[in-house]
This record gives sequence, C-alpha cells and structure tokens, in this order.
Amino acid sequence: MCGIVGYLGGESVTPKLLEGLRRLEYRGYDSAGLATLEDGVIARRRTEGKLENLITRLRSEPLGGVAGIGHTRWATHGRPSEENAHPHAPAGATPEVAVVHNGIIENYKELRTELAAAGTKFSSETDTEVIVFLVQRELQRGATPLEAVQQTLTRLEGAFALAFLFAADENLLIAARRGSPLAVGVDTESASIGSDVLALASMTQKIAYLEEGDLAILRRGEFVCYGANGESVTRELKSVSQSNVQIGKGEYRHFMRKEIFEQPTAVGETLHSFLDPARLVATFPDLPTNAKDLRRMLSVACGTAFYAAATARYWIEAMTGIVSDVEIASELRYRKAALDDCGLALCVSQSGETMDTLEASRLLAQRGIPRVAIVNNADSTLARESDLSLLTRAGPEIGVASTKAFTTQLTLLACLALTLAEKRQTLETETLRRYAESLMELPSRLFEALELDKKIAQLAHDIAEAQHALYLGRGTLFPIALEGALKLKEISYIHAEGYAGGEMKHGPLALVDEEMPVVVLAPSGGLFAKIASNAEEVLARGGRMLLISDAEGLAAFGGKATWTLELPKVPELTQPILYALPMQLLAYHAALVRGTDVDQPRNLAKSVTVE
Ligand code: G6P
Repeated sequence: MCGIVGYLGGESVTPKLLEGLRRLEYRGYDSAGLATLEDGVIARRRTEGKLENLITRLRSEPLGGVAGIGHTRWATHGRPSEENAHPHAPAGATPEVAVVHNGIIENYKELRTELAAAGTKFSSETDTEVIVFLVQRELQRGATPLEAVQQTLTRLEGAFALAFLFAADENLLIAARRGSPLAVGVDTESASIGSDVLALASMTQKIAYLEEGDLAILRRGEFVCYGANGESVTRELKSVSQSNVQIGKGEYRHFMRKEIFEQPTAVGETLHSFLDPARLVATFPDLPTNAKDLRRMLSVACGTAFYAAATARYWIEAMTGIVSDVEIASELRYRKAALDDCGLALCVSQSGETMDTLEASRLLAQRGIPRVAIVNNADSTLARESDLSLLTRAGPEIGVASTKAFTTQLTLLACLALTLAEKRQTLETETLRRYAESLMELPSRLFEALELDKKIAQLAHDIAEAQHALYLGRGTLFPIALEGALKLKEISYIHAEGYAGGEMKHGPLALVDEEMPVVVLAPSGGLFAKIASNAEEVLARGGRMLLISDAEGLAAFGGKATWTLELPKVPELTQPILYALPMQLLAYHAALVRGTDVDQPRNLAKSVTVE
C-alpha cells in the first residue's frame, strides 16, 4: 500500500527520503518518486517499478535540497506509470506545492470537473492531482500554506494521509491524517513524516502518531498539531522503541524466508506473553466482558488473519461452548448482521491498520460490542481504538505474504481459547494443563518442521510446473489448507484452491487429472480416516498427491502418494500451527523456481489501508 515519507533538516534530503522509502518497500508498490526544494524551486523525479529505477534516475538527474517528500505508490486510480506516480505538483516550471497521498479521494471526479471548468489541465489519471490544484488555487488567492491546506481539506471526501511541500518555505512540511495512518518525527534540527515507524526510525528518535483528523505543521525542531475540530492539540512525542529495528535480511535471501525461520522464536515469545510455563495456565489481562456469561462471539479479519480466526473458531467452540462466528471484515461492513446476542468481538490484524478490519471494528463498537484487538503493532490504530489489545510477538513482518504473523496469531488465539475454557470451567484442569504443555512444546516442533526445507525445495520443482493446485484439510486443517492455497497464489502466481476434504466430491474432484497436484494435510488422529478417504478419491482419479502427515499417518496410507512430507506427531491442538510451516515453504520454493518477486508479489500490498 502507498507509503509516505517527508524530511527537513540540515542534511541533504535525498538520501534520507530514499532510506525511508526503502523501509516502506515491504508494503508493496508499483512506482516511486521524490520532490525536493532547492533554492526555492520544487523539483521531482518519479519512476515506474522498483525503487532501483528511481535511484538510477537520481544518479543521472540528482536532486539537492534539505527539505522534501517521497512516496511509494500502489495504484488505485490510474495505472502504474511515471505520470501517475507521486509526488504530484502542478505542471509547469515552478510549482508552488507538491503532495504525496495515501488513500482515496472519493469525490475526486466532481472536484476534477470543477477545476477543469476553471481551466486546470491535469497531467495524471489519479485522484490525488485535484489536491495540488486546490491548494495552489488557495495560495494564488493569497492564503498561507496552512490556510490553503485547511481550506482544501474541507473539500475532500474519503480516507487519506497527506504530506505537503511548499516552494515558498524551506522550513515547512504539512501533514494531514484522515483515515490512513501517519506519524511524525521531531528532533532539534529536523522534522520528518512517515507512514509507519519503520520508515521514521531512519530519520528521527522521537515520534508522535497523528490521530484521526489531525493536521500537523512541522518545522526544524518544532511540531504544532490541530485536531479534527481545528483546535490546537498536543500529541505526545515518544522515543522510537523500534528505532533499532533491523529490517535487514541477515543471512537470508528473502524477508519471507527469514520470517519463516523466525517462527519458533516468534511463537515462543508469544507463548511467554500468554502462558505461565510454571503453572501451565494461560495468563491474560481482564477481558472486556464476563467470560462466564458469553454465549456468542464474533471474529473479524482479512486475508491470512481471517484464516487464523477461522482456525480459532474450532478451538473456541470445542473448548468453551461459546458460539464463535467468523466473518471477513469487508463483508460484515455491508450487511445487516444480527449481532444482538454477541458479547465479544475479536478483531485480528497483523498491521492493525487494515481499513476493512478497522471499519468493521468501529461498526461493532457502534453496536455496543466489546472489542479485543489481536495485533502485531501495539501502536496501531486498531490497538488504540479497541477495548483491549493483545500483542502477537512476531516482530516486524516485512514480506508481503504473512507467515510468522499468522502462526503467532494462531498461538495467541489458542491461549485465548484456554483462558476462556478455564474461566468458564468447561475443561478439566488436567486437560487444560495438557493443552498448555502441548503449546509449550510447539517451538521445538516448529524447528523440526523447518528441517523439511531441503526436501520441499526439491519437490517444489514439480509443483511449480503446475497451472493449478488443490489443498485439502479437515477440521482445523481446513483453514490451513485455505491458507496454503493463498500462499501459493500470492507469491508463485499458481492458481490454487483450498477445500474441506469432504467437499471434494461436490465439485472439485472434476478438476483432478494427472496434471493437478493435490496437497493433503492429514495428521494422524481424530479425522485421519476421513481425510485419507478423500485422498483415496483423488488417487483413484489419477491425481498427483503431496501427502503431509506424521510417521503414523504416512505408514497408514502406505506409500501411495506421489510425494510425502513427514512432520513430528503433535496433539490435535497444535497441528494447524505446525502444518502451516510446510505450506509456507512450499509456496516459497515454488516462487523461487518460477522466479517471482517473493517479498513483494505483483499487485499486492502488505497493509491495505483502502477499502
Ligand atoms: C494484506 C496482506 C496479507 C494480510 C492481509 C490482512 O492482504 O498481503 O498478508 O493477511 O492484508 O492484513 P492485516 O494487517 O490486517 O493482518
């Protein structure tokens, strides 16, 4: 999703902005650009494609100055191209203002028509360009930069974050937040703007998150903020806790690979936050509801986070008897949901900034439902707006395709199911202890699963040749099959679908031929016999099968699968978490074989801050 940076200080601005943009790359983008102010003149460089293209352009056409703004664009209005890339500025030799924008201006067509009627010539297809012309019109009418921005904001509808640079003032940046996240940094000799703390960490030691509706005026060492009603407000500057965050890949070729291999540690850290290893009980802060009275709860999320919630539903209902609905956030928003007896909502989101999840959470708040956010960013909007926020300890996840965020979400949700069961006394103490023990063993089992890396790398050559693939699972392994298929789609661009094993005979079986790889998640235990029958149905139709199981399951299936992967045998509770790892590695290696961009797959963004 689009990323914004801005900087002014004593140092040359271009390297600062480029470093900030590099740190925003992980969000996904298709073009990038900078505007800087030198000797009162705003100049821009913009290129389609990767940041490397912009850096190459800057080598032959450098930009000087000590103030500037930068942007990585993820196209919404208008294809990825140099003309549509940000920053935008009125065409002509000496623009008075330049802007970068994240989000969508919903009424841009009306504004465009209005400006065009007054003679404005647009040079892009974007919704953003109207903003620069509105600001410029105000400046030409004699407004100060602040007045021009304030006036322009009254005309804009939609959700957005903006940063402005003005030709008339080398010591001024203006930032505005309405719906899309934005933070600012202020040090004695500099001021900066960033879409997230990772970008800002390269420019400042002190940051403040802008609140909804804020307008920030930034000068060297100075920060003035106006709230949604135009009143002057104070936003606390905090030391950047993540300023030392390493976003390097270390010894790894890709962030995704690094993050896959970080899972034993990330899951371990999350367990330490929510399980007492000595007493083997879940340790949670007070929930914003009385667990004993809960009859029904609802989880909302998008993408991979949705599959984490969908898995947790099996645990929560089985352990606690609470009706546990799960809904895609963008669907909940636009239907007349019957929520009267819903006593608790879980909003699951790695970033805590996904627009659909945020809006679903706000809708649930309006309906008076207490909300618990499950996030990987403690300072995120979702965390701040919820009644309680619970933090997964994944650390920064940079690869667009979620891996360690997913398994830490699952870990946290498993602990949450335990604590609900304990409070409701729906499980024996001994059973609870056994479950807690199996969770504590999980980091070691995850380490063992990672040893399959080489074998998966080999068999990925065969999978990578396929045009389509099917993933099958039952029970808690069904959402993992869905997640496995999503991973393959996202990064290798192979069309893949996940199915509940029992559904094969109701349609998907028609697709099976000797070309179609079918991945079957079949741990021994409860549902093994059922999923094994579904696997037989596939083999009977000549399908090629990758069977993933433990030694007992593989022996029972008797060498009939085309490929096999053996995982350690674990209790049912932790199976979905363990089985997620080979799914991730398979997608990763298939993507390597196909030569795709693993960390920044085409068309996708890490944190989707538009509808
Ligand atoms: C994007 C990412 C996915 C992620 C989803 C939800 O689509 O590419 O990896 O699962 O957003 O993101 P969230 O930050 O809310 O978990």
